[in-house]
Amino acid sequence: MKITVIIPAAGSGERFGGKKQLKRMGNRPLLFHTLKPFIASELITEIVVVVSKDDVYQVERALKSMISVKTVKVVAGGDTRQKSVFNGLKVSDKSSELICVHDAVRPFVTEALIDKVIQACDKHDGVILAQRSTDTIKKVMNDQILETLPREIIWRAQTPQVFAKQALQEALELAEAENILRTDEASLLERIGYQVGFVEGSSMNIKITTEEDWVFAEAIYKSLNND
Ligand code: CTP
Ligand code: MG
Repeated sequence: MKITVIIPAAGSGERFGGKKQLKRMGNRPLLFHTLKPFIASELITEIVVVVSKDDVYQVERALKSMISVKTVKVVAGGDTRQKSVFNGLKVSDKSSELICVHDAVRPFVTEALIDKVIQACDKHDGVILAQRSTDTIKKVMNDQILETLPREIIWRAQTPQVFAKQALQEALELAEAENILRTDEASLLERIGYQVGFVEGSSMNIKITTEEDWVFAEAIYKSLNND
């Protein structure tokens, strides 16, 4: 079975204060670390990296010289993550049956996590990684707490998220037509009635959003003793 991974990496990193996906960790850009397990994974047949227009040439050159074992495509993103993923989907191999979407800014994904989420796909239209909430979550309005949500049913979505290609395509097309914007693909499938399952992720699989997250990421990187 053919499986394409789409890596959205076209953000501007407003909350971080710059393009975190290209910032160096160790002596490599963050994006390199994120790509490593997808390059190594035997399940992934094609890699599509979505970057901002200005970075396409440079990233394409770097990746093509680095990856020879599978197809790599680099395309320009849109002004939202959702549009970037859609742009990636449009250039993906026509014969891919599953599409895996993974944030460029989650560099600690492993081959084991990629395998786990893909293997669970036979029972659902899509499967995501998620992590139990260890915090108590409050629903708030202005400066007032409205409600405390039961922690047992709160899970935090991560990527990779894997979908049947047809379902993801339909979900993205409908969202675009109806002007719906969401921060992950799973919610676009959920809203139109597809069944999205989840498997337990890892607390190491953090998303780098702010400068503080970089501090945690450096610590994880050192503890994993990467080169
Ligand atoms: N992303 C993308 N295209 C966009 C916006 C985001 O491909 N137009 C990507 C980012 O590069 C990142 C992932 O989606 O890998 C998750 O997004 P986020 O953490 O929000 O990154 P940014 O959008 O860059 O950050 P911010 O929202 O703070 O500007
Ligand atoms: Mg963003």
